[in-house]
Amino acid sequence: NTPFLLDRFGRVAKDLRVSITEKCSLRCTYCMPEEGLPAIPAAQLLTVEEIVRVVRVAVQSLGVEEVRFTGGEPLMRRDLEAIIAGCAEAVPGTPLSMTSNAVGLEHRAAALAQAGLTRINVSLDSVDRAEFAQLTRRDRLPSVFAGIRAARRAGLTPIKINAVLMPQTVAGAADLLQWCLDEECELRFIEEMPLDADHEWARNNMVTAAQLLDILGERFDLSEAGRDDPSSPAEEWLVNGGPATVGIIASVTRSFCGDCDRTRLTADGKIRSCLFSDDETDLRSVLRSGASDDDVATLWRGAMWNKSAGHGIDAEGFVPPERSMGAIGG
Ligand code: GTP
Ligand code: 5AD
Ligand code: SF4
Repeated sequence: NTPFLLDRFGRVAKDLRVSITEKCSLRCTYCMPEEGLPAIPAAQLLTVEEIVRVVRVAVQSLGVEEVRFTGGEPLMRRDLEAIIAGCAEAVPGTPLSMTSNAVGLEHRAAALAQAGLTRINVSLDSVDRAEFAQLTRRDRLPSVFAGIRAARRAGLTPIKINAVLMPQTVAGAADLLQWCLDEECELRFIEEMPLDADHEWARNNMVTAAQLLDILGERFDLSEAGRDDPSSPAEEWLVNGGPATVGIIASVTRSFCGDCDRTRLTADGKIRSCLFSDDETDLRSVLRSGASDDDVATLWRGAMWNKSAGHGIDAEGFVPPERSMGAIGG
């Protein structure tokens, strides 16, 4: 009964990612199908009270040090402020962050900061309105810009921007970096992983970190600065000598599974030890069967012990997981 989430390979999960919905206001092609994901019946979604309870157990009994809310899009839940406030009260001092597309954030950033949200990461792949609309299948770029600025005014900083590397948008990568430098956001590019709902990902078509560096190198002087900490997915590069940086999350070509410190909870209450493993542990039914906090912690420890070594994207016979990114929570 260690107070940690340890696996067979000696990794310790200290970073909890809680997906709270599969709904989203956008339809990014690398994540969601055009029609969106099938709705989870309301009765199967974890409630505010259940989310607060699992977060408390994770922090108090399992050594979790940081909690991130994801989706789908967390802002699609109207009780997001209540979830944040409940968690902030249950685990004071633990950083609570969110990964969001920022659509509509303009109207909620202040309340979220007030509730106890610490900072946000925003998914933004292009600062060109037409390109953004094509990739996300929604013309919402102005709302995203307004959301990011409202988040900064509310003190939800540092704001990190996630941009998935796609063939359609990579030509605008330097424009996106310049925008982030001007807006004081920390940009990270992400290699596309085989987690799109349409299963169209192909190793040969993906844009790699190496290709991105060539493109950015035409406009900026980049020098390698390493990782902020060993379990951070992003390798950092100083831009024009610094202090500004740009990060690259090379999940595919330079995978970082050996240093992974994540544990995940899906919106319907399943523990997932890895993005890529379909091996899920049903926490929801245990929560609803009158289990004690100790029972919850024991189940979670067992689920993480069997975490796989890594995604194996480059291994022969690789099969992408059944759930797409929007259903796992990034
Ligand atoms: P920070 O704590 O702010 O650095 O956040 P983060 O990078 O952990 O979280 P975020 O939700 O912003 O994730 C950024 C990207 O990293 C995601 O889009 C994923 O592509 C990638 N990522 C996050 N977690 C994992 C993981 O466990 N495995 C892999 N392979 N990629 C991940
Ligand atoms: N590959 C890599 N990153 C992805 N994201 C969504 N789908 C994919 C994918 N197939 C990113 C989003 C968001 C984060 C949680 O995951 O852009 O920033
Ligand atoms: Fe961790 Fe799995 Fe992501 Fe690798 S693919 S970094 S093991 S969650």
